[in-house]
Amino acid sequence: MDLRFTEEQEMMRKMVRDFATAEIAPFVEKMEQGEFPRAILKKMGELGLMGIPVPEELGGSEMDFMSYIIAINELSRVSATVGVILSVHTSVGTNPILYFGTEEQKRRFVPKLASGEYLGAFCLTEPGAGSDAGSLKTKAVRKGDEYVLNGSKVFITNGGEADVYIVFASTNPEAGTKGISCFIVEKGTPGLVIGKDEKKMGLHGSRTVQLTFEDMKVPAANLLGAEGEGFKIAMANLEVGRIGIAAQALGIAEAALEAAAGYARERVQFGKPIAAQQGISFKLADMATSVEAARLLVYRAAELRMKGLKCGKEASMAKLFASHTAVEVTTEAIQVFGGYGYTEDYPVERYFRDAKVTEIYEGTSEIQRIVISKQL
Ligand code: CAA
Repeated sequence: MDLRFTEEQEMMRKMVRDFATAEIAPFVEKMEQGEFPRAILKKMGELGLMGIPVPEELGGSEMDFMSYIIAINELSRVSATVGVILSVHTSVGTNPILYFGTEEQKRRFVPKLASGEYLGAFCLTEPGAGSDAGSLKTKAVRKGDEYVLNGSKVFITNGGEADVYIVFASTNPEAGTKGISCFIVEKGTPGLVIGKDEKKMGLHGSRTVQLTFEDMKVPAANLLGAEGEGFKIAMANLEVGRIGIAAQALGIAEAALEAAAGYARERVQFGKPIAAQQGISFKLADMATSVEAARLLVYRAAELRMKGLKCGKEASMAKLFASHTAVEVTTEAIQVFGGYGYTEDYPVERYFRDAKVTEIYEGTSEIQRIVISKQL
């Protein structure tokens, strides 16, 4: 196993790090106040970051999957909000069309998604179908050249901002997961109702909304894959998406570790920096060890995926461990900062709030354990 990144991958890391420092860091405060980072996404589109793994002939940057994961990792060190927007847009907003779309669907949607002109969203979760995604109740009934969709979705990342929604609905409720189909729904489709904006603990610049479909008519040409193939499309893309969320969690943990180590070197108590006192230095050593282990799992899963090898178990392991590490390391970072860590004057409280959801979305930690244990 070669643990070095290629020159191209290192260039991607440097480019994204420079961009995040210069363009995203000054905007973090605005995002904390709830502003969606439209202008940042536009610039990311110009840099080719909105379609990193998409082939050039479809308007993408055609870089390897590792470079994509590096980008999410780097963005999330500065802003987990921007990290999740890109991960959802690419892994589960664009990839389903790229991998399961017809030539016509690909040509119609992917170049616009890859350039950042369009933003993608993924609509699987429902009020009564979260971890048990296969029990979704949204229905799609074929009428001539259209499907009519009725139902509701919750916790839709990028909802209300997106131009393209990948929507899952049942075309044959008796058939369970084998009756679920997938549709490409465009913004502005009559019957697509954007509902409540969730007030979240963290990721304040990312939008998370409820959606309702009220007799929403979707052209039959927008059916993605065959009828009944929807659940497989969801699972296959979530598998890869989980590596992206793991990279986001890793970025948050890295940022918290760096902040804590920096503060511990400067903060003097009992006549010396707290970093020189065992209670804190051992804590930092444990934090750094967990971050390194998470990093290896994340990049190992990305390497398997890049080489086209099976990576479902490894993707779930990476997400399970990296999200746990993010929660643990951000908690400890606040402890290192003491009272200051509990204030908004330092970024560690934001890291802590942003970390928690990585144990919940794209499959909770309990679901990751189900996926892993099924493969043992
Ligand atoms: N690739 C392709 N097909 C897959 C697959 C994969 N990785 N995993 C499962 N399937 C197929 C199975 O092969 C099976 O088909 P066959 O019967 O033909 O073999 C079919 O899907 C059903 O599989 P299961 O019986 O395993 O399904 P299940 O109902 O027991 O559920 C589960 C499995 C893993 C628990 C699944 O429900 C799950 O992943 N739940 C979590 C949902 C989730 O991750 N939601 C995230 C929402 S998106 C999000 O969070 C984005 C964001 O905002 C950041």
